Amino acid sequence: MKLRKILGGKSRRKAQKASKAEEPALLREHRREIASDAYVDWVVRMIGGWLEPGHGNLASFLYGAKQLPATGAVVEIGSFLGASTNILSYLLARHAGGRPLFNCDPWCFEGTEEPIGGYFDAARPEWRAYAKDLFVRNARTFSAPNLPHSFEMDSNEFFALWKAGAERSDLFGRSVRLGGPIAFAYVDGNHTYEQARTDVDNVLAHLVPGGILLLDDSADDSPFGCKRVVPELVASGFAVVWANPNYLLRAPGATR
Ligand SMILES: C[S@@+](CC[C@H](N)C(=O)[O-])C[C@H]1O[C@@H](n2cnc3c(N)ncnc32)[C@H](O)[C@@H]1O
Repeated sequence: MKLRKILGGKSRRKAQKASKAEEPALLREHRREIASDAYVDWVVRMIGGWLEPGHGNLASFLYGAKQLPATGAVVEIGSFLGASTNILSYLLARHAGGRPLFNCDPWCFEGTEEPIGGYFDAARPEWRAYAKDLFVRNARTFSAPNLPHSFEMDSNEFFALWKAGAERSDLFGRSVRLGGPIAFAYVDGNHTYEQARTDVDNVLAHLVPGGILLLDDSADDSPFGCKRVVPELVASGFAVVWANPNYLLRAPGATR
């Protein structure tokens, strides 16, 4: 962003050309494929949140679905209004035989201490109820053929149930057993270092060899503490698939 502001006209185009040429072929292919997916483009325009056409996480979702290890569930921490949930459900139906997606959100938002724009109190229970209702409606509407198993709870509670192999009713009234191996996790809940580290540790306890991790807001220039988890994972043997600009990582071990 800063670079774009500093460079103007010709030099900016030159810099863009150079960075495109340096982009790994794998990322380029995934970026192109997801950009030409009319359904994904439409869903990110229809559902509110932080995803938008061309957002780097979309190419990473596609990689996760296409390169999914042979066994294990997909887990999403933090679903908000369901933009990422619905895209993951769609991509899993399309490329991964409808592998189950489990997710959780307590619909308790960060950064709500001050009213937004000095006007809107985002800590109001009405906003929380609105966000949850919209999530449920969005999932029913956009993911009817491959509904996720969604739970209204924070990630600590979710992973405690996962570890225990507990059976619970999801937000769509289906009884399901949590637990077992995890093939791909998208961590986008509380963005502090402490909670992101806890979420990642909870994923690691179940991640299959070659399992995939996408950490939202982990870009090098992210203002969030969660980005500190990336070098720790790399030091422990994780490979960086790409940073687009958020980090997509792969656990050591077999891939299919
Ligand atoms: C950035 S939003 C998620 C956006 C969504 N993944 C998307 O891309 O469309 C973050 C969400 O994390 C949820 N959240 C906050 N703390 C959490 C926690 N401890 N466990 C799970 N979710 C949490 C918030 O309620 C919020 O809906």
